[in-house]
Amino acid sequence: MKSETTEKKPSPQIEFRIERYKPGLIDPPRFQSFRVAVDDQMSVLDGLEQIRLRQDAGLMYRHSCHHSACGTCACRINGIERLACTTLILSLNTETVVLEPLHGFPRLGDLAVEMTPFYRDIDPAWSLLTPAESIEGAAEPAADPPLRLEACIECGCCVSSCPAAHRNAEFMGPAALAALHRQMAKVDSPRQRDLLAAAASPRGERLCERALNCSRVCPTDVYPARHIADLRRLVKA
Ligand code: SF4
Ligand code: SF4
Ligand code: FES
Repeated sequence: MKSETTEKKPSPQIEFRIERYKPGLIDPPRFQSFRVAVDDQMSVLDGLEQIRLRQDAGLMYRHSCHHSACGTCACRINGIERLACTTLILSLNTETVVLEPLHGFPRLGDLAVEMTPFYRDIDPAWSLLTPAESIEGAAEPAADPPLRLEACIECGCCVSSCPAAHRNAEFMGPAALAALHRQMAKVDSPRQRDLLAAAASPRGERLCERALNCSRVCPTDVYPARHIADLRRLVKA
């Protein structure tokens, strides 16, 4: 009887071209290539973990949740801001994955950046909660609508992709303006006026060039450009 053998297909090898930077050691930054055997379930973050475990323990990148909740793994993947943990390598349809840190943030090392500037114009007192959307098909609206966490995971993708933020470091930027607009919906009129005054300042919505990159790259559908457009209408009203 003919024996049946299940032939295992070899894993495709993908090149990871990573912009390396170590202050004083790999300085100025330069690209380094690694080969990684991948399967169709592997994310870019999985690829980075393979490289760090098997090829270079000094590779720096940030991550925490592995499921698009913490925003820490954001970087530029083949030129576009994305979350490394939810980007499947083979979905990129490329033999080379080029990885760079987010633009516009101070570099710590390799793909890790300093996120402190992201919070410059986001007041820690602003609420992180928002009313949950009504549930489709619900018999009647809840008397006391439940709250959920805001969609923004503070990944910085929008800021990195924003040409206006790179041209003018004073610009509040898409994430802060979107957060400001969402906060306006949660406060009383006097505080709304203060927030609108901040949005109308020389550092506010007027510096947005309507490039829409921020909304395109946002992994959680915050659509910052839409919030900025709404702020612009309110400022002009
Ligand atoms: S729409 Fe405005 S904030 Fe968004 S990327 Fe373009 S310039 Fe930046
Ligand atoms: S608005 Fe979107 S892209 Fe910008 S920081 Fe929040 S989640 Fe990230
Ligand atoms: S590791 Fe948390 S969003 Fe990617």
